[in-house]
Amino acid sequence: MADSITIIDNRTGESIEVPILDGGVDSTEWRKLLPGIWFYDPALMTTAVASSSITDLDGENGILRYRGYPIEQLAEQSTYLEVAYLLIHGELPTAEQFAPWKHDITYHTFIHENVRKRFLEGFHYDAHPMGMLVSAIAALSTFYPDAGDIHDPAGRYKQIVRLIAKMPTLAAACHRFSVGMPFVYPDNSLSFTENFLSMLWKVAEPRYDANPALAKALDVLFILHADHEQNCGTTAMRTVGSAHADPYVSTASAAAALYGPRHGGANEAVIHMLTEIGSIDAVPAFIESVKQGHGRLQGFGHRVYKSYDPRAAIIKQTADEVFAITGKSPLLDIALALEDVALSDDYFTSRKLYPNVDFYSGLIYQAMGFPIEMFTVLFAIPRAAGWLAHWVELLEQDQRIARPRQLYVGPGVRDYVAIDQRG
Ligand code: CMC
Repeated sequence: MADSITIIDNRTGESIEVPILDGGVDSTEWRKLLPGIWFYDPALMTTAVASSSITDLDGENGILRYRGYPIEQLAEQSTYLEVAYLLIHGELPTAEQFAPWKHDITYHTFIHENVRKRFLEGFHYDAHPMGMLVSAIAALSTFYPDAGDIHDPAGRYKQIVRLIAKMPTLAAACHRFSVGMPFVYPDNSLSFTENFLSMLWKVAEPRYDANPALAKALDVLFILHADHEQNCGTTAMRTVGSAHADPYVSTASAAAALYGPRHGGANEAVIHMLTEIGSIDAVPAFIESVKQGHGRLQGFGHRVYKSYDPRAAIIKQTADEVFAITGKSPLLDIALALEDVALSDDYFTSRKLYPNVDFYSGLIYQAMGFPIEMFTVLFAIPRAAGWLAHWVELLEQDQRIARPRQLYVGPGVRDYVAIDQRG
């Protein structure tokens, strides 16, 4: 079978052979063969914006691998910090490599006092923690003037460690502020997730000891959310990073994209939806209203998964482990009924709409005591590792600045009319 397609240019009658590379057409070839011709692809549905060796996603078959390792094995056997190392460096660490990585992340958890006092405490009392987090990540850029030195690998490493380490501290600070509780300093004797839980929930006790099973469950969720190739947030990261903006503002742009309800904001939307449905009896009517075009089934569907999202399958198991400790969420039965009805309905099956990562994660977060507004923040903490891995990759690839074309559909040329003469 030939690995090319033939195009006949009807303007000239010439026939052009366009080579197919890994299932697609390389734009460098295309540009040479058909100069001036571009593709109209507003949501980048058929455009590969990068070559990447970080995450391998086969949406048809529900396969997700980080650097070649199946997500199921990583979720069962690894830890978030080890996975973060894998994403950034490309290989799982040896014991000698892991010790300094863990040490560096643990000892960069503190934030400058002014980030909290002068900046975070300036927000309105009911500020959404995700809005606070996005702004706080960007603000870090002003605290590290060396952040702009993106071409030095040692400098890049320093900013990566700072960002991964400070995400839980910023996230917890946003939460404490929004509930009127005092800020809790990091405890470097604790693991990554235990420390995060301590900064969230500690009250007056000298040391907060998180339930190990809940800390482990959160770690698994962090592994599952750490990367997902060229999604909206990562595309923002790569786009802003391609302008050689520093990693803090680039990460803030990615987090801003994640905030949207069609992206990482969906876990929050799922809880609102389940609460609104209210009972199992109301599920069929709700499904019917979605089919009539009144809203979407939140936590269902995905641009690339056309089968069950493998992360959703792992989360479902984790949910059982969490509920065994916290007690079952009253919304779980509605979620299960919704999944059952949707998966046996032609509307959803014909469109290949299955539960995605956000369908069950919110139920776990809620059972663990997180307020709904914190759900997307919980997504952003581990995703920082993925965003930064893509940032390093694009710099190492020396990628040119992202600058797509547009299809102009506005008015043609017209003359300026003075305001008193406009009709
Ligand atoms: N409920 C009902 N119908 C849906 C849904 C849904 N959740 N998702 C897609 N559809 C329908 C849609 O109406 C369209 O039907 P038709 O062909 O008749 O017009 C068809 O399925 C294709 O939809 P689309 O909007 O072209 O699909 P997309 O690839 O552009 O959107 C999506 C993907 C994730 C934005 C979308 O499925 C959605 O809005 N889902 C709900 C929000 C959600 O759960 N988001 C989390 C995504 S996973 C985590 C992450 O990426 O952050």
